[in-house]
Amino acid sequence: MRTSQLLAFAAALPSTLAAYKGFNYGSSGQTESTFEAAFTSAQDLVGTSFTSARLYTMIQDTTTNTPIEAIPAAIATNTTLLFGLWASAGDADFANELAALSSAISTYGSSLTDLVAGISVGSEDIYRITPIGVESDAGTGVGPDVIIDYIGQVRSAIAGTVLADVPVGHVDTYNVWTNSSQDALIAAVDFLGVDAYPYYETTKANSIDNANATFWADYSDTTAVSTDKPVWITETGWPVSGATENEAVASVDNAQTYFSEVGCLAFADDINIWWYTLQDAGSSPSFGVVGAGSPPPTTPLYSLSC
Ligand SMILES: *[C@@H]1O[C@H](CO)[C@@H](O)[C@H](O)[C@H]1NC(C)=O
Ligand SMILES: *[C@@H]1O[C@H](CO)[C@@H](O)[C@H](O)[C@H]1NC(C)=O
Ligand SMILES: *[C@@H]1O[C@H](CO)[C@@H](O)[C@H](O)[C@H]1NC(C)=O
Repeated sequence: MRTSQLLAFAAALPSTLAAYKGFNYGSSGQTESTFEAAFTSAQDLVGTSFTSARLYTMIQDTTTNTPIEAIPAAIATNTTLLFGLWASAGDADFANELAALSSAISTYGSSLTDLVAGISVGSEDIYRITPIGVESDAGTGVGPDVIIDYIGQVRSAIAGTVLADVPVGHVDTYNVWTNSSQDALIAAVDFLGVDAYPYYETTKANSIDNANATFWADYSDTTAVSTDKPVWITETGWPVSGATENEAVASVDNAQTYFSEVGCLAFADDINIWWYTLQDAGSSPSFGVVGAGSPPPTTPLYSLSC
């Protein structure tokens, strides 16, 4: 084969590097030992193994700017991390996120090499100030100009450190990314993290029968505007219990269908994905793939085999 044919052939092959496959983890009430227990259960799930964790903040719960204890838990369990800096609480709070990031780099140094999948500056910040976000009381958000400014601050903070080559991006909902007013933000990121939940897409015919098609339409609408930048699935899932949203019924059977269609296709296609979520007991709707218990059970509520 000629070189150009070889290159085309190689590009068509699946990446030899396995994609990141993880869950999302909140910080409230969590400590190094609870993070470690959850990361271990996620790896040991019956039928599958999740080896990555997406975080929403760099700051350990109840501290001002101490690095989140998910980091030593991840080092201890060989769990990769998608770092997140909370970006909607004002400049002083963001300065604490940056301080925790810099402190994590100096505390853990080369242990972070190969551990950090990327850094997300913010999570659904722009969604929260769109008309739909405001109507659903999603909370305080900020616009793209603030996120772009913060991305620059993160790039400065990691320059010349062990994290210098880690991709820096932003997580938002698919309908934010596809709004043409986000073009400057898309230019500023290394990756687009997309959150999409057909369960909540109540303006569409959103029964479980349409959920797979809706999710992948959301995903491809996002890749269509990404200017060839990678699109990572940072949140999706289907609840095992909770309210019916338009045609979307929360049930174990439907959660299983959604996982085996959307999750298994993402894994097969080597798309980086952080599922929502490992454990969500007591919430309504409840998106956990396992039920209550500490450490989280390793027997899921439905089959996670692909
Ligand atoms: C950590 O995980 C990676 C990939 O998931 C694997 O290649 C590596 O061998 C693991 N390291 C240890 C110490 O288990
Ligand atoms: C698109 O973005 C603009 C500017 O931020 C905003 O006014 C508009 O509401 C957004 N559209 C949707 C559908 O969210
Ligand atoms: C889910 O949607 C994708 C993208 O359109 C498609 O390739 C796949 O076959 C669908 N899966 C099922 C089970 O229908």
